Amino acid sequence: MYLTKEEEKALDGEYGEAVSLAMRVLCSLGDFFEAERLIPIQSAHISGVSYKTGGDALLTTLKKFSSLGSRTLIPATLNPGGVDLERWREMGVEETFFEKQKEIISLYERMGVFATCSCTPYEAGNIPARGAHVSFAESSAVAFINSYLNARTNRESGLSALASAITGKTPLYGLHLDENRLPTVRVKVNVALESPTHYGALGYLIGKDFGDAVPLIQSDNPLPLVEAKHLSSAAAASGAVALYYWGSVEVTENLEKIEIGKGEINEVFESFSLTGEPDVVMLGCPHYSIYELRRVAEIVEGKRVKTPLWIFTSRQVKCLGEQMGFVQKIERAGGKVFCDTCPIVAPLKGFSGLLTDSAKAAHYAPSMNKMEASLQPTEKCVKAALGSKQ
Ligand code: F3S
Repeated sequence: MYLTKEEEKALDGEYGEAVSLAMRVLCSLGDFFEAERLIPIQSAHISGVSYKTGGDALLTTLKKFSSLGSRTLIPATLNPGGVDLERWREMGVEETFFEKQKEIISLYERMGVFATCSCTPYEAGNIPARGAHVSFAESSAVAFINSYLNARTNRESGLSALASAITGKTPLYGLHLDENRLPTVRVKVNVALESPTHYGALGYLIGKDFGDAVPLIQSDNPLPLVEAKHLSSAAAASGAVALYYWGSVEVTENLEKIEIGKGEINEVFESFSLTGEPDVVMLGCPHYSIYELRRVAEIVEGKRVKTPLWIFTSRQVKCLGEQMGFVQKIERAGGKVFCDTCPIVAPLKGFSGLLTDSAKAAHYAPSMNKMEASLQPTEKCVKAALGSKQ
C-alpha cells in the first residue's frame, strides 16, 4: 500500500509509539485487502467494549494502547458494554464483572473516545454526512449508515476502528470504492410490512439468502428510520449485508432476483418460537429510539407488567425519555429502561425464554445468552409482558 511521507513518518514512530502501532494495524489491513492507499475519515465508531465478549484480552490490548499515550484524532463513539453503569446490580451482574467493564470504558475515555455505549451512534451525534468516509464497527450501524445515510464504511473490527480513530485514516478498499457499491441482487417485496419487526424479518431473510451481497430492495413500503434500523441489523446478523438500496435505483445489469411475500415473512416469525411462555420480554436491539420508547410508554401507561419487561437504549435517548415522562411511565408499570448495554452483550442470568421485537436479538439469544427466543412485533411483545387480558 502506498504511504505518503507523513504516513511513513507516522509508521516509523515519529509521532509516537501509539500512532505507529495504529498505523501498523491499518497497513496490515490495507495490504491484506490490496488497498491502494489510506484515505482521511470523518469519524469512527468502535465496538469491542463488552467484557463478556472481549474478556481480559480486551483489557490488555486497551491498556497497551492507553499506556502508549493513544489519543483519538477524530470524533469516535463507543458500542454498548456489558452492563448499565448505574443500574448494574438490578441486572444481576457480579461486581467483578462491573469493575472490569468500568475499567474498559475508562480506558477508552482516556483515549478521547466518547463513551456513548450505544449501537445507534447516529442518534448520539455521530452522524456521517452523505458520501463521507468513516470507520464504523458494529454491523447494524454499518449497514444503516451505508444504506440510509449513504456514508461509506467497511465492516470494521473494534481494533481497526480504534486504529482509524487514532490516525484519522482508513485503507481505501471495499465499500469506500464506487465499483463495490453497485447492487448485486434484486429483491422484490410483495407484501405490506406492518411493523418495524416485519422489516427486521425481511432483513433476516435477505441476509440469510444473500450473505454479503448488495441487495436492491424494490418495495412500495416506505422506509422510516426505526424500520431501517431493524432491517439493517437483521440483514447484518443473519448474513453480512453492509449496504442495501431501497426503492428505485437504476441497474443496467441483469441481476439475480428473488420475490418475498407474506408466506416468507411469516416463516421468519415461525422460525423463532418458544415452546413455553417467555420469562422475559426484551426490546431495544438496536437501541431504542425516542419514538419506540414513546410507543411502549403509551401501551403500558396505567398498567402493570406480569413478565419482566427490559428495554435497552442509549443514555442520550433515555435522558430525553425521562424529560418527556416516557421512562417514568414504563418504570411505574414495572418495566426497566437500561442504558450502556444490550440484551446480547450483557451477561444475563436467570432467564430461559425471551420474547423480543428484534430479529437480531432473536438470532443471537440462543448462542450468546442460552435463551430460546420468540419474535413478535413490539405491540404484541409489550401486551404479552402485561398479560393477555390487559
Ligand atoms: Fe445493538 Fe446489542 Fe443489538 S449492540 S444491534 S442491541 S446485539
